Amino acid sequence: MNYGYFDDANKEYVITRPDTPTPWTNYLGSTEYGAIITNNAAGYSFIGSGANGKLLRFRFNACYSNLPGRYIYISDQESKDYWSASWQPVGKSLENYQTICRHGTAYTEITSQYQNIETSTLYYVPLHQQYEIWHFKVKNMDTVTRNLSIFAYSELTNHKLEAMDMNNLQYSQYISRTYYKDNHLMQYTNGLSDDGCWRFFGVSKASAVGWDGSREGFLGTYGSYSTPSAVINGACNQTLNYTGNSCGSLQVNVNLEPQEENEMVFILGEGTDEMASQLLNHYKNARVVQEELFQLKQYWHSKLEAFQVQTPDSKFNSMINVWHSYECFVNTYWSRTASLIYSSGRNGLGYRDTVADLQSIMHLDHKLAGERLVTLLSGQVSNGGALPLVRFDHIPGTEFLPDSPEYQQKTGYDNYRCDDGLWLFEAVLQYIKESGKVEFLDTIIPYSDTGKATVYEHLKKALEFLLARLGEHHLLIAIDNDWNDCLKLGSQGESVFASFQLYLGLKIFQELAHLIHKDKDLIWAESHAKELYSSLQTHCFQDGQFIRAITKDHHVIGASTNEEASLWLNPQTWSVISGVASPKQAEEVLDKVDKILKTEYGALLFYPSYTSFKLPEINMAVYLPGVKENGSIFLMAEAWIIKAETMLGHGNQAWDYFNSTNPASYNDKCELHQTEPYVYSQFVEGIESPYYGRAHGHWLTGSASSIMLSVVEGILGVRADYDGLIVQPCIPSKWEEFSIVRHFRNKTLHIHVCNPDHVEKGVTKIVLNGEEFINSCFIPLCKMKELNEVEIIMG
Ligand code: NOJ
Repeated sequence: MNYGYFDDANKEYVITRPDTPTPWTNYLGSTEYGAIITNNAAGYSFIGSGANGKLLRFRFNACYSNLPGRYIYISDQESKDYWSASWQPVGKSLENYQTICRHGTAYTEITSQYQNIETSTLYYVPLHQQYEIWHFKVKNMDTVTRNLSIFAYSELTNHKLEAMDMNNLQYSQYISRTYYKDNHLMQYTNGLSDDGCWRFFGVSKASAVGWDGSREGFLGTYGSYSTPSAVINGACNQTLNYTGNSCGSLQVNVNLEPQEENEMVFILGEGTDEMASQLLNHYKNARVVQEELFQLKQYWHSKLEAFQVQTPDSKFNSMINVWHSYECFVNTYWSRTASLIYSSGRNGLGYRDTVADLQSIMHLDHKLAGERLVTLLSGQVSNGGALPLVRFDHIPGTEFLPDSPEYQQKTGYDNYRCDDGLWLFEAVLQYIKESGKVEFLDTIIPYSDTGKATVYEHLKKALEFLLARLGEHHLLIAIDNDWNDCLKLGSQGESVFASFQLYLGLKIFQELAHLIHKDKDLIWAESHAKELYSSLQTHCFQDGQFIRAITKDHHVIGASTNEEASLWLNPQTWSVISGVASPKQAEEVLDKVDKILKTEYGALLFYPSYTSFKLPEINMAVYLPGVKENGSIFLMAEAWIIKAETMLGHGNQAWDYFNSTNPASYNDKCELHQTEPYVYSQFVEGIESPYYGRAHGHWLTGSASSIMLSVVEGILGVRADYDGLIVQPCIPSKWEEFSIVRHFRNKTLHIHVCNPDHVEKGVTKIVLNGEEFINSCFIPLCKMKELNEVEIIMG
C-alpha cells in the first residue's frame, strides 16, 4: 500500500493519505531548538536537549489519535461544525476531508480541504533561532461568506526536564503559571530558580479574540484533543493556569468572502515578554515567512548538493540526494535522544553512535563532522577509555570516570565499553582525507577528566587502554559490552568483533604514524597487530566461519555447533572489513552469510534467535525471537555486509543487501515496513517473528549512518584521499551508467561513470577534463580545476 511519494524536484516527501500505519515524522530546527512533527501535526519541541529542555509536551506511547501537538482547529460559527487543519486530532471522515503533508528539509507543510475551506500550515524553525513558526493560511472556496473561528493549541510542559514534567506532578504542577497580554500568552515555570524560564505563544498578523492558558480550560475537564470544549463552544474560555497544566491557545475569528484568503503567524518559543512582542511585530511583515523559508531551503539544499547522484534506480537517488542524507544530519544533531521512540531518557551523544553519525556527513559537511569529532575526542578519558555518553552540557576536563558512581548517577551508564574509542580511527582518517588537514593530528584537545593531548596522542592512548585489556586468548576484553549492547561479556569475556575493530585501529594508526614519521609507534602498532592477527586466526575461525565471542567460562558464542545463534553476521563482515580474513576465508564466510542469514528483507544479525539457552552474557534473550538484538535484521549491521561485499567486488550481492533494506523499496508496501519509507529504522523483525518484515525505531539510528558510508564509499566507491579522490564503484552489473556531483576541497566534480561491459567492479580509465589516466581509479587533486568533468570507464 502506498501513502505518498518522493518529490525529488522539491526535495520533499509528500504524504497523500493521512492514515499512515505509524505517525510519519519530520525534524525541524537545529541543535539549539529541535522539533519533531508528524504528518498529522503531533509532536514536540525542545531546547538544547530532548531530555532537559522540553518545551512542548509529548505523551509517548499514546494512541496515535491522542497525541499532543501543534494543532490548529477551525470551527464554523454558523453550522457549529469543527475540524482540524491536519486530519488528526479531530479526524473527520476521509470521504470528505482531504489533506496532504509535505515533509521537506527542516520544514513541514500540511494542507487540508473540508467543507469548501482550504487551509495550509507551514511549520518551521527559522535558521539560528530558538522559536518556531506556524504560518497558517485559510481560504474560502465557497460561494457564500464563511464566518470561522481559528483556534491554535500548544501544550507547554510545566518543567523542562522531561522526567519532572511527566512524573513529578506534586512538584511540576505547582511551579508554572500563565498570563495573557496583547495577542500572546506567557508562561513562567520554575519560580525564581536557575532553571526558571519564560515561554511565549502568540499570534501575529491577526487579532486574538480569546485565549486559554490552562489545558483543561481549553479542552474541558473531560474534553480531549479531538473534542476541545473551547472549539465545540466556538469560544476560548479565557482561562489561565495556576497549579495545573499550562497551554498556549489562541482564538482568531475570520469572516471570509468567497475566494478570500487570510493568514496569521503563530510563534512559540522561550523568551521574555519583550522578545515575544518584538517577534509579533516582526512577523507582521508579509515577506518574512517567505524569506525565512527560502533561507532554510537554501541552507539545507546547499549541504545536500555537495553529493548528488543520478543512477538507474530512482529510489536510490531520492534517498541519497535528500532523505538519507538529511537523516544523517538529524542523527548527528540529536544522537539517540529525541524521536517518537526515544523518549528523551538520554541527555547526550552516545559515543559510538555519534562517531558513526559524524562519519556519515563527512562528504556533505566535513566542518560540522569535524566539530562533532572534536567534541567526541574531548569525551575520551585521559586513561584512553571513553565516556559511553557525552552529555549535551559536557565540560571537558571536569567529567567523572565512566565507572564512577557519580557518572552513573548522571548518565545511567556504569562502565567503559571496549569499542567506543575504536570508532575514532576511521573517523579521524576520514576527516583528514576529506579536509586535507594532516595537521589535525597535532590539534590539542582536552580529555574528559583531566589533561590534554594531540589527536594523535588521543588515538595512541585509546590503543594503549585496549591493549592493556586483552584476555586469555589474547583477544579484546569487552569490559562491559562491545557494539552489541546486549552482549554483556564483562571484565573477562572476549569480543571477536571488537578484536577485528582493534586490528583495523592498529592498521590505521600505523598509516598515521607513517604519515607523520613516528617510526617507533609504527613498529609498536605493527607488532601488536601481528599478535592480534594470529590470535584471531588461531582461536576464532572454525568450520568456515568466525565466532562472535568467548565468555569468561570459555563458552564460544557463535560457534557453528551451538544450538542457538550458531552464525553471527558481524564477525563475518568485520573479518573482511578489518583485513584479517584471507581472500579464501572472506569468500567462504560471506557465502555462508548468503546461505544462512540472508532474507528477502536483509541479513539477520544471527540465526537462530535465542529462545531457551541462556548464558548470563546473553542479555538479548529478553527480546522476542527475531526482534532487536535477538536475531532481527539489524540494519546497522546490514551496512557492514554491504561494505564487505563491495570490498570483494560483489556488486550484485551488495546491491541486493542494500535494496532489500532501503526504506524507499517499501514505499508501495508500507503496510509491511510501517515506518516512514523515506528514513531508516533501527531494525526489521526477522523470520522468527510473526510480523517478519515490520520495521521499528525510526530516524535516530546507526542504520542511516553506517549504510550511508557503505553506499557512498562502497557501492558508489567515492572516497577522499590525502591528495585526491578515489572513485572505485562496485555496482549491480545491470547498471550501464550513472553520474555523481561531488564537492571536494572547494572544487566541484561532475563524474559520469560508464559500464559498457556490465562489470560489477573495476575501472579501466579515468578522463579528467580531457586528460586520460589508464588503469587508475584516482583523481589527483593537483589536476583538478574549480569545475571538473570526469568520465570513468568501468571494465
Ligand atoms: C543501539 C545503540 O544505540 C547502539 O549504540 C548499539 O551499538 C546498537 N543498539 C546495538 O546494540
